[in-house]
Amino acid sequence: MLNPIKLANKNFLSSLDTSREELFHILEIAKNFKNKDLNIALKNKVLGLIFDKSSTRTRVSFQVAMSRLGGTTIDLNPTTSQIGRGEPIRDTARVLSRYCDALAIRTFRQSDLEEYAKWSTKPVINALTDLEHPCQALADFLTMHEEFLDFKDVVLTFIGDGNNVANSLILCGALLGVEIRIACPKGYEPNSLVIKKALEIYKDSNLLKITNDLNTAVSGANVLYTDVWSSMGEEGLKEHKDKVFNKFTINNNLVSKANKDAIILHCLPAYRGKEITNEVFESEKSRIFHQAENRMHAQQALLSCLLS
Ligand code: CP
Ligand code: NVA
Repeated sequence: MLNPIKLANKNFLSSLDTSREELFHILEIAKNFKNKDLNIALKNKVLGLIFDKSSTRTRVSFQVAMSRLGGTTIDLNPTTSQIGRGEPIRDTARVLSRYCDALAIRTFRQSDLEEYAKWSTKPVINALTDLEHPCQALADFLTMHEEFLDFKDVVLTFIGDGNNVANSLILCGALLGVEIRIACPKGYEPNSLVIKKALEIYKDSNLLKITNDLNTAVSGANVLYTDVWSSMGEEGLKEHKDKVFNKFTINNNLVSKANKDAIILHCLPAYRGKEITNEVFESEKSRIFHQAENRMHAQQALLSCLLS
């Protein structure tokens, strides 16, 4: 029987907080949870959820994952706690980590998340920042693994804004040796430090391509992935970004240029008619709802490794 291993790092702030071996292990554990082949008890463990931004999937999948493990969650809404009144992170983190066994945090700045991790005595999990969305990437690669089995056969093309979701896909892709192509408008390339770190990990640097040319990026791809054009916190940029990203919609024409076996992924929530057409979203190639379900299995695996 496969038992969760304790991860070398206390926290999961970035996709790079696991080694390649640990990442494969989390994906295997997640599959076991999904197939109901594993029954790990985290009885009485409590996960605190601090969400400075909205969430459906991340919040609920963490709640259900903890409940399935026999633990529980506390929703620490920043607007009704002292966090919203400006209590310093270093104080909040020291208090909450005396009550909770782990904290999952969704916020804007990665540096704020790191500040929580610095002062918390318990594991801190990145539930999305402007820089990364590593829990999402776990579910994404679980979904790809189910479809293609061998990551060596996968070419993943992400079409859209090179921010949090794209950054974590790049870092996980580098650890797993998956070919990643990012197609984005000029000026919306992924974080340069993320690219640098990924290139240090990839054995073959040709496996990472950042381009503004959609057609080159899609040719031969097995996975087409997109995300909203305007992320949370960018509501004021919507009109501008809708124009800039205008040519970056996944539609049937684009899908026809990818590999025949290509699947479609989207982290959700989706804006049909913007980053993806309704036809493609609802097509038989879409694995979008498998991917959303996998958030729960992947996070159950992550929690079991961080808290066992
Ligand atoms: N994909 C994702 O993180 O969804 P939520 O914003 O609903 O959590
Ligand atoms: N890039 C998006 C991801 C949502 C899950 C955002 O940050 O809003």
